[in-house]
Amino acid sequence: MIPKHVAIIMDGNGRWARMRGKERIYGHYEGTESVRVCCEFAVEAGVEYLSLFAFSEENWARPEDEVTGLMHLMARSMLNERPTFQKNNIRFVVIGNRSRLSEELNRDIDTAMEETSGNTGLTLIVFLSYSGRWDIEQAAGRFAAAGAPEGKFSTFLATADIPDPDLLIRTSGEKRISNFLLWQCAYTEFYFTNTLWPDFRKNEFRQALDDFASRQRRFGKTGDQI
Ligand code: IPE
Ligand code: IPE
Ligand code: MG
Repeated sequence: MIPKHVAIIMDGNGRWARMRGKERIYGHYEGTESVRVCCEFAVEAGVEYLSLFAFSEENWARPEDEVTGLMHLMARSMLNERPTFQKNNIRFVVIGNRSRLSEELNRDIDTAMEETSGNTGLTLIVFLSYSGRWDIEQAAGRFAAAGAPEGKFSTFLATADIPDPDLLIRTSGEKRISNFLLWQCAYTEFYFTNTLWPDFRKNEFRQALDDFASRQRRFGKTGDQI
């Protein structure tokens, strides 16, 4: 079965560059090519939602030049990829604590989101300045203020309109969630690979989908009930 929603923690760009004796930012640039390839493959494979963890709240603590470089890269990618979104019928969404992003970047994000809001193919969600705890905290505040009933909490999360991920992929050999979709991953299947993000392309993505297809999801029931 093809997962309806795939989430990816795109990790290992810095190490990829360092292994080549280059600056870390070089790895981030190469990583954008993996993003393009994976979006195209997601469309081809019939994935409906692709979530990409691009920059965490904790990543703001990185050296200033790396943060500046990454923000520049986001702005550049957004501009370059807009025609590709239209061509592939991709709806582009950004989720995260956008109050920490520059006015200019926020404007570019809004333009890209508005421009693609009517597209009906893949929904591509880029998580920028995001953390799972931030999301739960902001949802809790609004949930309490609204006096909403039990069972409705998830409708206050930033991902309210998006189904929970079926498959979470993390590259680069790390086996942790690093504050990504904490609430949403309650029943998500995890796939860890040693491949560094800039090397994660079509074949690697296909392997992850094949692995997912071999799993039995039980959601608390017994295997006999499935
Ligand atoms: C992932 O690659 C991209 C971001 C977190 C922005 P890293 O930059 O974390 O690369 P490594 O983990 O240091 O190799
Ligand atoms: C997770 O990668 C965040 C993104 C991929 C955007 P990190 O490299 O920041 O995670 P840790 O610090 O190794 O847990
Ligand atoms: Mg990392």
